[in-house]
Amino acid sequence: MCGIVGYIGKRDVAPLLLEGLQRLEYRGYDSAGIVITSPKASGLKMVKAKGRVRDLEAKVPKRFAGTTGIAHTRWATHGAPSDENAHPHLDSEGKVAVVHNGIIDNATELRAKLVADGIEFLSETDTEVLVHLVARSQAVTLEEKVREALRHVEGTYGVAVMHADFSDRIVVARNGSPVVLGIGEKEMFVASDIAALVSHTRQIVTLEDGEMATLKADDFRTYTTEGSRTTATPTTVEWEAESYDMGGHDTYMHKEISEQADAVDRVLRGRIDDRFSTVHLGGLNLDAREARGIRRVKILGCGTSYHAGMIGAQLIEELARIPADAEPASEFRYRNPVVDPDTLYVAVSQSGETYDVLAAVQELKRKGARVLGVVNVVGSAIAREADGGMYVHAGPEVCVVSTKCFTNTVVAFALLALHLGRIRDLSVSDGKRLIAGLRKLPAQIAAILETEDEIKKIAEEYAGAQSMMFIGRVRGYPVALEASLKLKEISYIHAEAYPASELKHGPLALIEPALPTVAIVPDDELLEKNRAALEEIKARSGRILAVAHREQEKADHTIVVPKNETELDPILMGIPLQLLAYHTALAMGRDIDKPRNLAKSVTVE
Ligand code: F6R
Repeated sequence: MCGIVGYIGKRDVAPLLLEGLQRLEYRGYDSAGIVITSPKASGLKMVKAKGRVRDLEAKVPKRFAGTTGIAHTRWATHGAPSDENAHPHLDSEGKVAVVHNGIIDNATELRAKLVADGIEFLSETDTEVLVHLVARSQAVTLEEKVREALRHVEGTYGVAVMHADFSDRIVVARNGSPVVLGIGEKEMFVASDIAALVSHTRQIVTLEDGEMATLKADDFRTYTTEGSRTTATPTTVEWEAESYDMGGHDTYMHKEISEQADAVDRVLRGRIDDRFSTVHLGGLNLDAREARGIRRVKILGCGTSYHAGMIGAQLIEELARIPADAEPASEFRYRNPVVDPDTLYVAVSQSGETYDVLAAVQELKRKGARVLGVVNVVGSAIAREADGGMYVHAGPEVCVVSTKCFTNTVVAFALLALHLGRIRDLSVSDGKRLIAGLRKLPAQIAAILETEDEIKKIAEEYAGAQSMMFIGRVRGYPVALEASLKLKEISYIHAEAYPASELKHGPLALIEPALPTVAIVPDDELLEKNRAALEEIKARSGRILAVAHREQEKADHTIVVPKNETELDPILMGIPLQLLAYHTALAMGRDIDKPRNLAKSVTVE
């Protein structure tokens, strides 16, 4: 949420930063800004614009030369999107520039004190207090000025600071919002995620909370906010720069949906053990004795990751016979939950940054719980905070809405469930059966993607709907929830998801010809019950789109998906509904990769 990028070196900085902002735009896209300088320049030059990075680019003058700079793309928290509220923020003399991700909790109080001292504020943002605090500091070095300012601040930040009197450096600090340094040859980069760095360097250093860094063109050093030096050894990132490109697709969402067969192949690779009909998950840091001692599994995530966790909980209960449930991390952390030593907690997150999930993990660890992470971004905060876990290897997900990572996370949970099941009492033959099912997934996903044209036609029919209902029973319910979330996020059509079993307890009142229902109807032990729900809808003249393993007589349309093992069916049933949401939104002319009011990586509460 909000993207920061900075550079110090010999190259012309503005094009570099604008390219970096483009790559970070999925983190926020309501306004953007850039400030630059160079060793010979007499001060800072800044341009800001409400709107997208392309609006900023259009405002940057032709002569805008410099070799050091910081830039920001914003997702508004304090203050509406506007030129004034866009970052960077400058102090009254125009000497100090700050870009910031996160929220300063005591900004109102600090602002009142600064105003009482005669400081004039130019924006409504919480960030501006930090600028004035740095500018007022009497400390000698920029590092000390920033450190002193941060001492007054409560809240979260990933922050980069430039000062006209210290044009040979950028000072950065992290507390709760990610800051990654990119180490180049006589040039240094900083960004809020590696997406902005990988086309320049793959050598990175991820700052820890409470850590700061000074970047100079040919050198960097890291230290704590108290000033003690820390050691930072660069690591090499595995994702290629090309993975962040659109690769011939019109949108990242389409690209990411299309990549799912390969992505699933990756999450399976090297983990299946045919000899013992199980899977190896070395990163769990959980030996067989500990795994046998687990009494409950509690899965925590937000949004799409929470839905993936719901399917994960069902898989764990079914295959490992351990009571399991999923809960939104954003709720869990506020309700003072009982933390039980025999419960295995699992935190799920694509970005590994979502603040609500991270805060839940930290709270659990404080209370002595064991927490595993099921995460996509390697080395992210949640991955590092967890006691162990598994990466889902979906590759970079750039579209704000999650698709391929959802699928890979569910497959990762199938692996975890199988692993726990085989340690407990899942039979060898069930192990074999499920492994064979997992191996079939990539080809079956490819087959579903082949039906895109048919799904597109159906989507175009539903594109005018005001509202849509999604129903599913047991394994189908989280699929319905996720499909309805996808539709509302990118098409802005109101959508509700209900357990099919709950229809007659209320939502049936909504059914009429103008409210289409999407029904998840797998060929499982609940098929007849689901068919009865379709009858009830048809009897009230409701239109029905079924996602099923065979044509459904009562449905107006059926999208037929390949059958796998019953436990694994939900993995496949969600995929055509990603395409349904995509083509519905496309037919309605929506900005699919950047839906209104949203941003990827929600690093604020
Ligand atoms: C939906 C979506 C969001 C995220 C949620 C959690 O398409 O992308 O609901 O799933 O914000 O994000 P992560 O998984 O990064 O923790």
